[in-house]
Amino acid sequence: MFKSPRTQWENILTKPLVKQTKFLNKVCSVNRKDNLVIRQAFFENLSFALVKQIFKLVKNVIKADGIDFSFQDLILDRLLWVSEISHLYPEDREVEENIIFGEGYHVYTACYYDLDLIIEFINSHDDINSVCDLGSGTGRALLYMALEVDRELEYVGLELVNERVEFTNSIAKYFDLKNLFFKTCNFLERPNDFLGFDGYYLYDPVGTDDVSLLVSYFEKMISDGAKFYILFISGWDDLMLDALDKLETLEKIDSIKSRKQQDRYVNFYKVI
Ligand SMILES: C[S@@+](CC[C@H](N)C(=O)[O-])C[C@H]1O[C@@H](n2cnc3c(N)ncnc32)[C@H](O)[C@@H]1O
Repeated sequence: MFKSPRTQWENILTKPLVKQTKFLNKVCSVNRKDNLVIRQAFFENLSFALVKQIFKLVKNVIKADGIDFSFQDLILDRLLWVSEISHLYPEDREVEENIIFGEGYHVYTACYYDLDLIIEFINSHDDINSVCDLGSGTGRALLYMALEVDRELEYVGLELVNERVEFTNSIAKYFDLKNLFFKTCNFLERPNDFLGFDGYYLYDPVGTDDVSLLVSYFEKMISDGAKFYILFISGWDDLMLDALDKLETLEKIDSIKSRKQQDRYVNFYKVI
């Protein structure tokens, strides 16, 4: 009898790792050119709750060396629908060094390993009930948080490029996520749009020329009495790191070396 891909996932989730590994290698196989071939039908019509369980399965199989480690992000991105996004990032020679190229595709987003640190932090700080991603891009960060944070938060992504916002809102709608919303907005021109969140997540949010303006908005919010956290993955933008480090009204709670991307740190600040 034909079993739908969704039923097959549900069934395999109850089975031991050996069987899960075999199944994952059936739906994600490696061809003779060492490319990953994904059987699309197995990645469609899955609920967010099921995707959450499949994420665990994928991570377990990878941990046990059951599938090539380098395919992890491709598989996870496909599950969240944030793959095939190159058209949303037209190549720009000026910023090429900031684009991370992968196997046949590129992303311009934080890696899952660093996002795990952000999620661990949010999970251990129950005073965070809302998170704003300043420059939400193609949504990997907020979608992953919505998937893995152990309680339901409100998530808002502000993004300059309307096509990216349409794309991310379509994913939120596809998964029926009422607590995740993306808005087209230049947050440097509309600072009121990001008032009132418990946490601000930043990953290369602005160019060096605009760092002082963005930091001045945080300063103003603090002087107006706002209390919040800043979850900042720093890298090439040391200017932003220095500016936040120098703010006397911010306590730097932690700074952890990126597990994957060289010269990056995952930094956690709290308004004193
Ligand atoms: C490096 S991406 C980060 C993506 C996302 N935060 C993540 O971690 O997956 C930065 C994004 O910020 C957006 N951006 C830059 N300046 C902005 C501004 N002033 N207002 C809104 N979005 C902006 C860019 O268009 C880009 O999509």
